[in-house]
Amino acid sequence: MRLEPIVAGNWKMHKTPSVGVYFVEETVNLLLDIKHVSVIFAPPFTGLIEMDVKPPFYVAAQNCHWEDHGAFTGEISVSMIRDCGSDYVILGHSERRHIFGESDEWINRKVDAVLSGALKPILCIGETLDQRESGQTQRILKTQLEQGLAGVDSIENILVAYEPVWAIGTGVTATTDQVEVAHAAVRNILRELFPGSDDVHVLYGGSVKPDNAEELIQVSGVNGFLIGGASLDVDSFTSIIRTVEKDQMRILC
Ligand code: PGA
Repeated sequence: MRLEPIVAGNWKMHKTPSVGVYFVEETVNLLLDIKHVSVIFAPPFTGLIEMDVKPPFYVAAQNCHWEDHGAFTGEISVSMIRDCGSDYVILGHSERRHIFGESDEWINRKVDAVLSGALKPILCIGETLDQRESGQTQRILKTQLEQGLAGVDSIENILVAYEPVWAIGTGVTATTDQVEVAHAAVRNILRELFPGSDDVHVLYGGSVKPDNAEELIQVSGVNGFLIGGASLDVDSFTSIIRTVEKDQMRILC
């Protein structure tokens, strides 16, 4: 049985709180009839407290610190995020790893903090172009999963997002074959680490757009999307969600 898909929009450093609230209202109003897709909005921290949505709509933060409180200027803890009413926290996004130098060890501490705080991590993993071209994709995915999830007892409340770094924000999408191979690898690694983990969502991210969503959602092992650029526009985001909903209805019929 195919998992019910999840589509998450990562706004990155876009949209002020008031613009974000308006965007979410518009999007939700256009999607009142969706039944088979869960939708996650990930605004910047400043927008979290303003978000007021009900299932199947959810809210994610884009990062957190692993400590609950303390002298960590500029950081935000899981309990602060939870108090804003958020449900998920994106961790290990490639921009966090590559621009801000986050290591697998840091990401692992954050995964632990998010789970301990009763929120759900969306753990992002993915190889760079150099790593792909030198045949290291599977090794990188394995390392990022092994280290990112070290010490985790149950993967039940975790989402994984496979996001090849070279496809993020570049307009270059991985081919359906590349996505299928990578998702199969991720699934196998998860099975090794957590036997019986087949109901964990593995999302695809990297230049997902309205015109490639249909072929990507049909790739075996893709349980939804993590979307950057195309999640900032109401029309393109709702169009992708509708495509995913339609595909899920096709499967269910
Ligand atoms: P993109 O970003 O859709 O703009 O490529 C994806 C992401 O960063 O999660």
